Amino acid sequence: MHRLEYRGYDSAGVGVVTAAGGLRVVKKAGRIANLERALAGARLDATTGVGHTRWATHGAPNDRNAHPHTDASGRIAVIHNGIIENHAELRARLEAAGVEFASDTDTEAVAHLLRAWLDEHADGTIAAALRAVCQQLAGAFTLVVVDAEQPGAVVAARRNSPLVLGVGDDEMFLASDAAAFIEFTRDAVALGQDQVVEITRDGYRITDFFGAPAAGKPFHVDWDLAAAEKGGFQYFMLKEIQEQPAAVAATLSGHLINGQVVLDEQRVDQQELRDVDKVFVVACGTAYHSGLIAKYAIEHWTRLPVEVEMASEFRYRDPVLDRQTLVVAISQSGETADTLEAVRHARAQKAKVLAICNTNGAQIPRESDAVLYTHAGPEIGVAATKTFTAQVAAVSLVGLALAQARGTKYGDEVAREYDALAAMPELIERALTVTDQVRALAGEIADSRAVLFLGRHVGYPVALEGALKLKELAYMHAEGFPAGELKHGPIALVEGGLPVVVVMPSPVARPTLHQKLLSNVAEVAARGARTIVIAETGDRAARTLAARVLEVPSAPALFSPLVSVVPLQTLAAEIALARGFDIDKPRNLAKSVTVE
Ligand code: AGP
Repeated sequence: MHRLEYRGYDSAGVGVVTAAGGLRVVKKAGRIANLERALAGARLDATTGVGHTRWATHGAPNDRNAHPHTDASGRIAVIHNGIIENHAELRARLEAAGVEFASDTDTEAVAHLLRAWLDEHADGTIAAALRAVCQQLAGAFTLVVVDAEQPGAVVAARRNSPLVLGVGDDEMFLASDAAAFIEFTRDAVALGQDQVVEITRDGYRITDFFGAPAAGKPFHVDWDLAAAEKGGFQYFMLKEIQEQPAAVAATLSGHLINGQVVLDEQRVDQQELRDVDKVFVVACGTAYHSGLIAKYAIEHWTRLPVEVEMASEFRYRDPVLDRQTLVVAISQSGETADTLEAVRHARAQKAKVLAICNTNGAQIPRESDAVLYTHAGPEIGVAATKTFTAQVAAVSLVGLALAQARGTKYGDEVAREYDALAAMPELIERALTVTDQVRALAGEIADSRAVLFLGRHVGYPVALEGALKLKELAYMHAEGFPAGELKHGPIALVEGGLPVVVVMPSPVARPTLHQKLLSNVAEVAARGARTIVIAETGDRAARTLAARVLEVPSAPALFSPLVSVVPLQTLAAEIALARGFDIDKPRNLAKSVTVE
């Protein structure tokens, strides 16, 4: 479990089938050390069991929401990664049948469903029960289950969530990634989509959700332990850049129900949302940049005025706030002091606060009237990457929720925008293929004195984000600004060989802006700049004009930051690596700035 702690660490627990028969479950909020203290002296006489360290999605991180979850009699223990999208419907059905839930999690429903199936199939196996239950589940999940009445077996299932089997000598393992068992065995089997695996000490058996035999992909884990935690990457940040399609998909998952965009927590009613007549967005750093993108989407879809403020400045300028003001606070950690104080100031002025956060149960969502969680998973690299793209997806959902509340978008229009958003993970996946080109380019400009980043419209916040990444990772001077500002001063900075990165809009979706950006590229090139353009695939004009073009897939204008930021993240990381720096732990920086 310690090997997996980087994946989530807000609570932890174990469930074992003891030699005496029966199930022992011990679980605690907080890090694994809390669980170890609770286990100290406990004689868990068992060779079969499950363990889980959690990154909460549904249900605050506390003892009762920690995994494993059990059925009412304590016969079955379940641990779970992912999101069961139809958990509310399953829970309602079980409660109507008299089941009492002990937690707020989506996971607990699975324990009760397994028990109900076994009660109806007295000679059924826990593997058959898990197959039957998986047929009822929607969403992404890895489930691992033990049954006190079937000792010596552990069963598991996966859909769109990691699960790997470790094949030992007279012992078997299951884990989210191989880091958990490679000190015992390096012979592993990768399990496929919609598969159930049953392990005993003698072997394993894989089927699909309907019982038909299936096969996994055997492989040998040749990573060292440190690399295993990073999924084979040298740094968490490089792994997290690659995780962005999944982070965006998980953030969007389950938020369009019956044609309605739904938030995770909403302690304001639709009328209060309808009465909103002004929006502020408050955030810091990278979160501030996703806030700038929120402005374009929310104003375009709702016609509400949106002001985006750095949280550290917000309350000192005595902003005009009242009951009809909505303040959107964006923070991946949910603990940033500047943003938390901005939230408190807003609430003191009777404004409504909606938090966008990646950490369930953090202080900022706890002090907000509504919450939309990003589901990027823990971000270990100090430099925000997957939490940024997850935030961009989340602010788009907020914009759609406001538009539907105000009636400025019909249900079918909201659904169309949501579908376009839901197609973005695949486009981000394609944007990730520029990594090799970017690595080569990074080596060529790693010794530059500075780098300028230009953009217009939603490309401007992307330019700011690219500059921030380069500052915090490569310790280079970098500046992002609206391309239209170039001639008002910054062009004086341009000299021979200076790299200038330009975030180009689509020539189809934004032809006027595209033409203006081409002029900007020509202006800096005429003064000797080395022009690097992030352009839509097939943008011939950009290819003709720029020294280097990094192509990303075509995307709807408001969602294009999800792809155009990808080469900039990689460029900053690769330049920092070329300069010999640790990109997971940049100097002077902390992952969460809990002081003002
Ligand atoms: C971004 O790469 C930095 N880690 C930093 O600017 C960060 O975005 C900022 O401190 C805000 O953090 P938060 O999202 O946890 O509030």
